[in-house]
Amino acid sequence: MSVRRLAEEQFQPASFAFSEENAAWVEATIRKYPEGRQQSAVIPLLMRAQEQDGWVTRATIEHVAAKLDMPYIRVMEVATFYTQFQLKPIGTRAHIQVCGTTPCMLRGAEELIKVCQHKIHHDPLQPNADGTLSWEEVECQGACVNAPMVIIFKDAYEDLTPQRLEEIIDAFEAGKGDEIKPGPQIDRHLSAPVGGAVTLNDDIKPVRTNLEPQPAPVDAASVPPADAAHPKDTAPETDPKLKTPVTAPKAAENNVKAAEAEASGAAKPEPAKAAPVAKSEKPSLEDKNRPQGIDKPAEVDDLKLISGVGPKIEATLHELGIYTFAQVSSWKKAEREWVDGYLNFKGRIERDDWLKQAKALAKGGEAEYIKVFGKKPR
Ligand code: FES
Repeated sequence: MSVRRLAEEQFQPASFAFSEENAAWVEATIRKYPEGRQQSAVIPLLMRAQEQDGWVTRATIEHVAAKLDMPYIRVMEVATFYTQFQLKPIGTRAHIQVCGTTPCMLRGAEELIKVCQHKIHHDPLQPNADGTLSWEEVECQGACVNAPMVIIFKDAYEDLTPQRLEEIIDAFEAGKGDEIKPGPQIDRHLSAPVGGAVTLNDDIKPVRTNLEPQPAPVDAASVPPADAAHPKDTAPETDPKLKTPVTAPKAAENNVKAAEAEASGAAKPEPAKAAPVAKSEKPSLEDKNRPQGIDKPAEVDDLKLISGVGPKIEATLHELGIYTFAQVSSWKKAEREWVDGYLNFKGRIERDDWLKQAKALAKGGEAEYIKVFGKKPR
């Protein structure tokens, strides 16, 4: 991976301006973004500038930053992060970006780099004597299944051999790059199997549908602990089907056995009885550890701001007379355990630290929550 720095001072022009046509395009592009989100246009603007001048200069970055009212360093970060932005003058007819990440490397990227070194320049990002060609090594370009590959401007050339890359470079050097069809350079369609499809063709008999694995119910106990990013109301308290886990491979195996028995004329085996599963007792509403409820106040807190509480759980809490963050933050351990058991949360209230969340929300709402947790409540 090359180090991405701006070009040396001697290459940097004093200023940058979009052409009249591009300036109109820039204004129209910025208007596509919602009010307050104009900075999202940074990548299109940088790309347009590069298409205009061939590379991204320091003056370009300053111009785009001013246009979008962004700190210069933010635009600099974008320009230096993405390898689609060229920070130095490159070949005017082709800049070959050779993917050097593992799949491409295993499939011959090193040989492609040797071709570039031989035909263009020994060093990356150094144009050839005529200034028409240059090359560099880049990270995965997302076409690993067609490795090895190179990118030339906006097109990918895949399934390359050193010989084919030489031909492609020669074509671009001769100004005939548009005669080369991008994509796989061997006889295959996109990323379809080399040699044609070998599955789902007419020689394959349809598979009996009762042999197909059936989707297995999810084991409620295996649901991982939730954090603020988890969907709401994932608690498994209401669906009795979730109590009898069966793995998908096991279900498929059972189906196969049944089909084999049926085919051999044997009596259909009795379906296996599910092993009894211990059912967790829901704590009584009369239990002394049930938290004190209150009548619905005029101001009800949005309990859904607590991680792990969604609309359904909030409705259950309301039924219990729980309406405010202050109530939740005052629960003693035994009360938290009662609520956890009542919601069949299996310890989630402690894992998600409802106490700390509720305390922060009761004290200062979302602002305090952000101060304590470093992120917005969800
Ligand atoms: S490794 Fe080369 S395209 Fe992914």
